[in-house]
Amino acid sequence: MILAACRRSAPSDVADATPSLTITTATLDAAVAAVDAAAPPTPKAALAAALPTSTNADPYGPAKVASRASCAVLGGQHVAERDMKTSFVDGDDLLAIVNRSPSGQLAPDYAPSDLVDIRNGKPLSPSECDKVQCLRSEAASALGELLAQMKKEGFPGKVESAFRSYGNQCGTFGHWARKSSFCEATEQSALPGHSQHQLGTTVDLFTEEWAKHERGVFREGFGCTAAGRWIREHATDYGYVMPYPIHPDDRHPRQSCVVRWDIPVNINPQTGYRFEHWHIRYVGKDAAARFKAAHAASGVGKPSEITVEQWLRAEKGLTGPDAELPVCDGCNCGACGTLAAFGENACDRKGGALHLDEHGKPVIVSSAPSIEGVVKGKARKWRGKVVEVKLDVPVGTITQPPIAGLEAAGYVAGATFEKLSPYPDTEPRAYPPLADAWVVAVEPVPNDTGVAWPYRAAITAPVHGQIYNRANVLLPTRGGPTTVRIPIPGDIQKAKVVLLRGGVPHGQQRAAELD
Ligand code: DAL
Repeated sequence: MILAACRRSAPSDVADATPSLTITTATLDAAVAAVDAAAPPTPKAALAAALPTSTNADPYGPAKVASRASCAVLGGQHVAERDMKTSFVDGDDLLAIVNRSPSGQLAPDYAPSDLVDIRNGKPLSPSECDKVQCLRSEAASALGELLAQMKKEGFPGKVESAFRSYGNQCGTFGHWARKSSFCEATEQSALPGHSQHQLGTTVDLFTEEWAKHERGVFREGFGCTAAGRWIREHATDYGYVMPYPIHPDDRHPRQSCVVRWDIPVNINPQTGYRFEHWHIRYVGKDAAARFKAAHAASGVGKPSEITVEQWLRAEKGLTGPDAELPVCDGCNCGACGTLAAFGENACDRKGGALHLDEHGKPVIVSSAPSIEGVVKGKARKWRGKVVEVKLDVPVGTITQPPIAGLEAAGYVAGATFEKLSPYPDTEPRAYPPLADAWVVAVEPVPNDTGVAWPYRAAITAPVHGQIYNRANVLLPTRGGPTTVRIPIPGDIQKAKVVLLRGGVPHGQQRAAELD
């Protein structure tokens, strides 16, 4: 429940806002009528061909000790001392992976050496750039071309924010953390060291017209304006990509530039953030064209649609378990607290934390969870039956979606873990087993589904399904006595239950009488 409460009270569209900006909760109404044309899906093979598949054991580079002492809002309060040990990203790389993952961050003293004032191209130092808007020179000249074209199109652009140093980002993040909470701020504002603005290649771009509004620029709906649509369509021509889209499941069925209003959480699990249609990042024209092709090949509007995050991971050869970690940092209200030794993280008390070693790999505990009891649960509004499994779970046990439960997903006739919709009216998808992830699995007796252990469920609270059923990532468990409720079709009289690790049965099977 902590997660849901956190989401409901989150400010709408805080995004990259600097402290002087107003947060608004404006919703977009029927004024936006145009329907975005989604590119037709293409076969998986096309995506595989479009993305590199080599593996790289340490894509972020070797672990180093970082000091976050310069950002008081984090050190000792929200981020444990152990997490000062992390791996660093090479910020000079235009394709650097800078995200919410604690596996990599920009060093506190990193700033590009070729920053220029975006108004006139004059070279400036990082500290001078804390006062005026700067970008790396290549990104600045590409932005100049883009702004010139926007003017010709009839919507002169307005840059709200460009390069932000580590210290500047600390101030921005701290402002939002104080205004809302640490947890809420992380959904829309990057921790220092984790912002693409520190790369000097990223801007928040609006229009002069949009900026005239009394509620400031960070309002919903910019992506639906003519300028917003143009930026989405043409930014890649200038070498810019848009890293924070609305997740395909969350898009309004008739206009993909706004979120479905019936979805309680619109954090995109692929990026860890709410959408930002104004945040564009320069990667160079060739790379932007590669992203555009890979994005189209991934199936726009389908669950398989990639974001810049997935594309960059593939470009870096970051595949397999690393790519299956949630994109998050610090305390995310128990859903994906990463970081810190067991017991040191605030998330441990709130619902579990995924602990990573200094290479960003999950720490695997040797002890196994056990089934303590299986009963027929109360179905309440569910038309089928519910298998209720009581477990004893060692601290540090790792699990994975799908997350079952009436607040999350249930198995109707024909659904299995290979074909399950995370929300009503969303495309069913598969949740293939991830190495070392434990799940509870139910199989009807007799089993006419054609799938072994077809009804699988994460060992976590159903509320986490709101975000993570849209991804297939390793997730933490809380540890201790835990009950998992799995809604299954109502015609099943008998079933058996087991724990699976990485998809393989582990320990004794239990019978479930469901009459
Ligand atoms: N708003 C984006 C995530 C940032 O702070 O960099």
